Amino acid sequence: MHVTLHGPTLNIPHYIPNSLVNFWQLHAQLSSIQLSTNSSSAPPSSQAPCTLTQPIMDLFGDGSFVGDDLVAPAPIMEAKITSADFGLLEKPILIHEDLAKGCGGMIWPAGEVLTKWVLKKYMGTTELRGKRIVELGAGGGITSLAVAVGCDLEGADLYMTDMKAMYELMKDNVKLNKLEDKIKVELLDWANPVPDAIAEKPVDIILAADCVYFEPAFPLLEKTLVDMVGENTVVFFCFKRRRRADLHFVKAIRKRLHIVEVDINNDPDYEAFKRENLFLYIMTKKA
Ligand SMILES: C[S@@+](CC[C@H](N)C(=O)[O-])C[C@H]1O[C@@H](n2cnc3c(N)ncnc32)[C@H](O)[C@@H]1O
Repeated sequence: MHVTLHGPTLNIPHYIPNSLVNFWQLHAQLSSIQLSTNSSSAPPSSQAPCTLTQPIMDLFGDGSFVGDDLVAPAPIMEAKITSADFGLLEKPILIHEDLAKGCGGMIWPAGEVLTKWVLKKYMGTTELRGKRIVELGAGGGITSLAVAVGCDLEGADLYMTDMKAMYELMKDNVKLNKLEDKIKVELLDWANPVPDAIAEKPVDIILAADCVYFEPAFPLLEKTLVDMVGENTVVFFCFKRRRRADLHFVKAIRKRLHIVEVDINNDPDYEAFKRENLFLYIMTKKA
């Protein structure tokens, strides 16, 4: 099988099970990558269509089909370096975006909104001094990078985390911004226990943007959050609602954590994101 990703062809060896190929396709679609598949052994033609040609999929082979209404197609994106200052940072951050690494390889609107909101809250304050801060599903690490550049992190520990596929991109972006002394990159896959380096002491702040998009991962993310939220932990969680099923996550997490919604949709600062269906939640431990 070949998968065409806006030009280059990825040859998927025959020994890779279909379920993994399907998983990759799902990620590609969630990333709004447009792709085509071809199950013959010949490479796809040069005019291979840039649309998903197979229906989305019985992911686990149990008949539980994932719908095809996950995200609207987005423009094709080449790997690039983007700079961002959010209208707040004196020195912009640089982000290497590369969707070949996975859907976290680009900056998502929820990431921009969360980052701007956190900068507005903490820039010019000493509130983050000495805090333990963890970004979940960081992708390229937009929020951690901006916090490290814009906020006073004296004595703080800031962890940028994601799963293995994003590890190198996170490392690259920390290096690109010369922030090795301020950000620790850790593997934190929600399917696994929270790594010791993070779990050994209570976490003060958890940052998470656009981590709700893949239904089978909802319980994993829920468990990770519940495991990490202690008496004094605050979670800033920016959520993009793409489909009705995403609300299952919100419903489930509401039962486990206390949630307050921040009204970003009437804030002129987030005007540009009004049509993105974004919600910002502050989560804490239930009393
Ligand atoms: C849509 S991207 C958001 C990236 C970034 N937070 C942003 O807003 O630009 C979702 C991120 O969640 C991460 N993710 C998905 N499943 C995960 C898992 N099981 N463990 C850890 N991270 C995961 C992906 O790798 C990806 O980086």
